[in-house]
Amino acid sequence: MATPFIITLDGPAGVGKSTLAKQLADHFEIAYLDTGAMFRATAWKLGEGSWNWDSSRIEEALKSFSFTLSGSGSNSVLSLNGVPLTNDIRTETVGMWASNVAKIPAVRAFQKIAQRKIGETTSLIAEGRDMGTVIFPQAPCKFFLDADLEERARRRFSQLEEMGKPADMSELLDQIKARDDQDRNRKEAPLKAADDAIIVDTTTLDIDGVFEKLVAEAKKISA
Ligand code: DC
Repeated sequence: MATPFIITLDGPAGVGKSTLAKQLADHFEIAYLDTGAMFRATAWKLGEGSWNWDSSRIEEALKSFSFTLSGSGSNSVLSLNGVPLTNDIRTETVGMWASNVAKIPAVRAFQKIAQRKIGETTSLIAEGRDMGTVIFPQAPCKFFLDADLEERARRRFSQLEEMGKPADMSELLDQIKARDDQDRNRKEAPLKAADDAIIVDTTTLDIDGVFEKLVAEAKKISA
């Protein structure tokens, strides 16, 4: 079997990673791994019943979690214990829960194993915070997207509206800022660009422009 080809796509919340990752996965006909969704689903499931942050309970619960990825492109389906993840996990509240559990070493260790296992057999656009730095440091093609906070809040606002989950703009701005600060400043696997990542500031670019740029760069690297 040929070695899977991995493209990593990291960056802060609301930068447009998911939209671009899906477009790139369709373009290159490979799967899309949304690792933020894995942290969201983990937080959601750990919170079922009651929030109990006892570390032995968390480690015990993680033993019963199994993530799988099927399909390709924007039709890639991520499942937890055989159940496909839904839009229920897409709110900013669940995003903050995800950011909170993402600081726990046992959760990160679990995710690292689960994500690398998927990448062992499947060519991927791997989207998240530490794809290029920690999970797939050997990936030949790494991107890091950034944009101004206000612009990212506007993008997330439209995305949530489209999903029928309207948000309050100023609240959203505060939430995204708090989440980014936490993700950037945590001890383990903080949000940052890999040394060999191509960094793209998307503040003044539209999604089509960024997509063309990323495709051109990826083609150069894989040629
Ligand atoms: O990409 P997202 O907004 O769905 O991610 C939700 C949270 O999950 C994010 O704020 C931090 C955490 N996360 C992480 O720590 N590492 C990743 N690779 C992906 C997400």
